[in-house]
Amino acid sequence: MGRILIKNGLVTDDKCSKKADILIKDEAIEKIEPSIDASILTKEDRAIDAEGKVVMPGAIDAHTHYHLVSRGTVTCDSFEEGSRLAAFGGVTTVVDFADHNRGQGLVRSLQYRLDEMRPGMAIDYTLHQGVYGHGYDSTIGKQLEDLKTHGVKTLKIFTTYRNTGYLIENREDLLDLFTNAKRLGMLVTAHCEFNPMIEEISDNWKGNFSPASHALLRPAEAEGKAIELFGSIALEAGCPLYVVHCSSECGLNAIRKLREKGLTVYAETTPTYLFLDRSYLDGPDGSLYVMTPPLREKSDNKALRDALKDGEIQVLATDHCAFTREQKLSCSDCRTIYPGIPGTEEMLLLLNTLKDQTKPMTMSDVVRLVSTNPAKLFGIYPQKGSLEVGTDADITILDPKARWTLEDDKMHSASHYTPYRGFEVHGKVRTTILRGRIIMEDGSYYGIAGSGRFLKQC
Ligand code: URP
Ligand code: ZN
Ligand code: ZN
Repeated sequence: MGRILIKNGLVTDDKCSKKADILIKDEAIEKIEPSIDASILTKEDRAIDAEGKVVMPGAIDAHTHYHLVSRGTVTCDSFEEGSRLAAFGGVTTVVDFADHNRGQGLVRSLQYRLDEMRPGMAIDYTLHQGVYGHGYDSTIGKQLEDLKTHGVKTLKIFTTYRNTGYLIENREDLLDLFTNAKRLGMLVTAHCEFNPMIEEISDNWKGNFSPASHALLRPAEAEGKAIELFGSIALEAGCPLYVVHCSSECGLNAIRKLREKGLTVYAETTPTYLFLDRSYLDGPDGSLYVMTPPLREKSDNKALRDALKDGEIQVLATDHCAFTREQKLSCSDCRTIYPGIPGTEEMLLLLNTLKDQTKPMTMSDVVRLVSTNPAKLFGIYPQKGSLEVGTDADITILDPKARWTLEDDKMHSASHYTPYRGFEVHGKVRTTILRGRIIMEDGSYYGIAGSGRFLKQC
């Protein structure tokens, strides 16, 4: 494979931006210097002029559900399609999820998911391993040890979805899980919606079950309460907590209270909760915007934007869980509409837009939120999430001055819609490089199914 020389770009990591050139050889960064003479190149090599462009570590979407088999259907973006749309969005790594399959322990569940992913993935990936109530027993400590030796150190738990068997109901089991996580240096990530509150509201509900009711049936208070509960258990175990897709000011306040008590809490939010509010659930296509947790108030969008700017949120990820318009609109009862929306392709563009609208956010803040922090938290740094000599040459070249409008037919998800239709975004991804190979350039895709690698977390 020839070398690639990226010249004249604004090289940006999580600390600073500086004018520099980058030389890539094979799969890694060979040199980063103020100026590298192009005369060293041979005819097998390639130079890219990045004048006026941002050159950053490949983005990481730390929360995806490609090819998720659930509720009698499957999400529409396969691993091939997920990889492709990710490349268009400047994303070179995803952290997807392995379900805790019934009758299978954690390691077999992980291996099942890896077998599903391997043939299709064209970008690199690692996994969060689900630990569900239906499979919780006294062997969990040993299973977690085995999981760690297989390269997965992040766990995913739920405070809701009792009917699917995901929920771990017993506080003792949760304490045991957090205690084991602390012992093994694993990170517990949690979907926080307090199930008893949701069930009580639902049991007493006199209204209809239109998409708009979704927001009322699963209120922000349920998120706050669940964070409080998981946080109290994490505190008792002395173990950090990672809150996935924080959607509300109420959730943020619960995180703040836990931090005041001394708990390390990492917070993730998604573009959904920064840019969309519950009025999107009102229209005839309200089903398209049903996800869990639901869309909130404009005031929640603002609170989360402020928290992002102030460094209270560590990771922006997407919870990409895409269904086609037909799948979404096949049902109008918010309890059974397939929950989830696409987002990986839009993530970097929306964050770059927000950065331009939000002083004093910088490009380094963008890199930190969608690349460096997830790489550090999920054990793949500095191989990913950095621009250093010797690390993987995963590089996204972004034209920060480009302006364009997101439209359904410009995006690459098999859902054939974007929840951000009509949004004018700042920035366009020109080139996406994975381990020294261009996988997307100027609107053309060159990814190879099966060439994505599983990243063991350390
Ligand atoms: O509605 C959503 N977010 N579906 C994906 C599964 C989850 O809860 O993250
Ligand atoms: Zn979730
Ligand atoms: Zn999710």
